[in-house]
Amino acid sequence: MTVVKPGTRPERPYYSSGPCAKPPGWAPEKLAVDSLGRSHRSKLGKARLAYAIDLMRELLRLPDTHRIGIVPGSDTGAFEMAMWTMLGARPVTCLAWESFGEGWVTDAVKQLKLDPNLLRADYGKLPDLGAVDWSNDVLFAWNGTTSGVRVPDGDWIAADREGLSFADATSAVFAYDLPWDRIDVATFSWQKVLGGEGGHGVLILGPRAVERLENHTPAWPLPKVFRLMAKGALAEGVFKGETINTPSMLAVEDAIFALEWAKGLGGAEALIARSDANAAALDRIVEARNWLGHLAADPASRSKTSVCLTVEGADEAMIKKMASLLESEGAAYDIAGYRDAPPGLRIWCGATVDSADIEALGPWLDWAYSQATQ
Ligand SMILES: Cc1ncc(COP(=O)(O)O)c(C=O)c1O
Repeated sequence: MTVVKPGTRPERPYYSSGPCAKPPGWAPEKLAVDSLGRSHRSKLGKARLAYAIDLMRELLRLPDTHRIGIVPGSDTGAFEMAMWTMLGARPVTCLAWESFGEGWVTDAVKQLKLDPNLLRADYGKLPDLGAVDWSNDVLFAWNGTTSGVRVPDGDWIAADREGLSFADATSAVFAYDLPWDRIDVATFSWQKVLGGEGGHGVLILGPRAVERLENHTPAWPLPKVFRLMAKGALAEGVFKGETINTPSMLAVEDAIFALEWAKGLGGAEALIARSDANAAALDRIVEARNWLGHLAADPASRSKTSVCLTVEGADEAMIKKMASLLESEGAAYDIAGYRDAPPGLRIWCGATVDSADIEALGPWLDWAYSQATQ
């Protein structure tokens, strides 16, 4: 059946799962630029970095027990920094159910030679979270961006754990209410739910992670950009805006714009509500079409940010065709699933996307599907 091309387009056809859509109303000329062209260690530079940290703390509802700092290398840099500085003290368990979790397995096995216990699941599923041994350090992605499967909550993380919990939370922060008492290490990048820029990572450390840093010397060398200890003590400056090396103040100002936008909306609850509404709008589109489905079968562990969809009869070529038709129409950018995932669509539902633009996508998906199956 041929479907007629819809007459109207989404206002902002940005559905990429990273870098994600800019906050509504964002424009480059709205960024504060006084800190640009200045030393990041000037009074102004340090104040802007500290302000970004304060805003993140407030919006994440991060307790005083946890430190938060800006580090190099986007989410990958922050998570690698945590792995390289803290692992090796006790056995390690890696949970992997999609590409990014697998990436941490590769590093633990091939680079750090740790021989971790592995708990894996196929795309669309979660491993048995009840099987985790919490005498181990445990690595996982809170929201698996490439399969659209997330952990449902933090209840499976033992309150009396001996090991540390390491959450790659880049597609999860600002979209779910995170139980900080169960998280020893969390990392993310501004490029996801905030619609900020990549380049910098954010590292969150609970008190037990700090204790580990202070009492454990890794068996391997650490490059300068990973070093969180100075003269035998934690480099506290990192958590006040004294970055290890030079940050992009433009990326910092861009993040401040997004954080102020989020605060103006009402903070964490408002961001979570926007994500929930977007995911619900997309779910209605899926429910109304027998050729669309969710890769994550269980709604309790289905992502509300990186929603991954199955398309009946799809192979890579068909998905490519649908995505490029929609891109050339200016109707939807970047909705093909991740390259390592089963062929399908992936539609970002984080807070910077407007629900009206998710709703407007339905008829365009019908059109692209009809074009691709003709
Ligand atoms: C779960 C997860 N981990 C890590 C990354 C890598 O993030 P970055 O490119 O910001 O380092 C991504 C990016 O999509 C991700 O979704």
